[in-house]
Amino acid sequence: MTDLVVRRLLVDMEAPIQRHWCAGDAFRTALFNALSMSFPVGEQFFIDSVRNGFKALPPEKQESFRAEVQGFVGQEATHRRLHSLYNGHLEKLGLVNHWEPRARERLQLMEGADVRHWLAITAANEHFTAILADWMLRNADLLGDRDPRLATLWLWHSAEESEHKNTAFDLYQALGGDHEWRIRWFRRITLIFLGDTVRQTVSNLRQDGTLWKWSTWKSAASYLFGRRGLVRQTFRPWKDYLRRDFHPDQHDSSASERWLVDNRERFALVGQ
Ligand SMILES: [Fe+2]
Ligand SMILES: [Fe+2]
Repeated sequence: MTDLVVRRLLVDMEAPIQRHWCAGDAFRTALFNALSMSFPVGEQFFIDSVRNGFKALPPEKQESFRAEVQGFVGQEATHRRLHSLYNGHLEKLGLVNHWEPRARERLQLMEGADVRHWLAITAANEHFTAILADWMLRNADLLGDRDPRLATLWLWHSAEESEHKNTAFDLYQALGGDHEWRIRWFRRITLIFLGDTVRQTVSNLRQDGTLWKWSTWKSAASYLFGRRGLVRQTFRPWKDYLRRDFHPDQHDSSASERWLVDNRERFALVGQ
């Protein structure tokens, strides 16, 4: 079982967000802003899945999950809260969140479905988040230093995503979720997640007036496919999920552990 603590991040989310807060780079800023827009609705779904999955466990199995589920819910609830404040600033910049209503519509289709489907969807998304998080922690300099507060927010979120990457997966397995459905949902979620990310990033760039600038596309190419590129470096860990014997724990979490130790003064532990 993973020991999960809830941390209150000591950052000021009241101060406005600059138009190109991420290293002055329009593409990277638009991409991160897009991801932030997905969190409040997505993370609520993850919380509900994990809570309902926990309730569906036989009582003798619940005990071993209780503390971890509580930690998971606390962490995701804190992420939601801060990203909602973040998204409030984006709205003031004129950006429109199209991702959230689309996700809400899709999630309505899940009403009444077996909780293992919810957990397979959550585990797939959490795998995405965990590999993205690990990559971000290892390439933290790419967040730039224009807004140290937002850089800290992304790294803290990343560290906790990496920390709780097992929870939904383990619950899915404890409830007898099978390999075939896990893979089926993972393939679907990959298409949905990438599609939504591209659509919202393009929408943010269009609103920002930087969609058709050469510098935007140049930055996208190097950030995604360059030597330290996001797609280039996360493709293998993405693919690992397809293995029958895969478990999220097989992926190294040392970048997360290191960040949490080195940045202790940036957060307060809740309830301790
Ligand atoms: Fe999160
Ligand atoms: Fe998460």
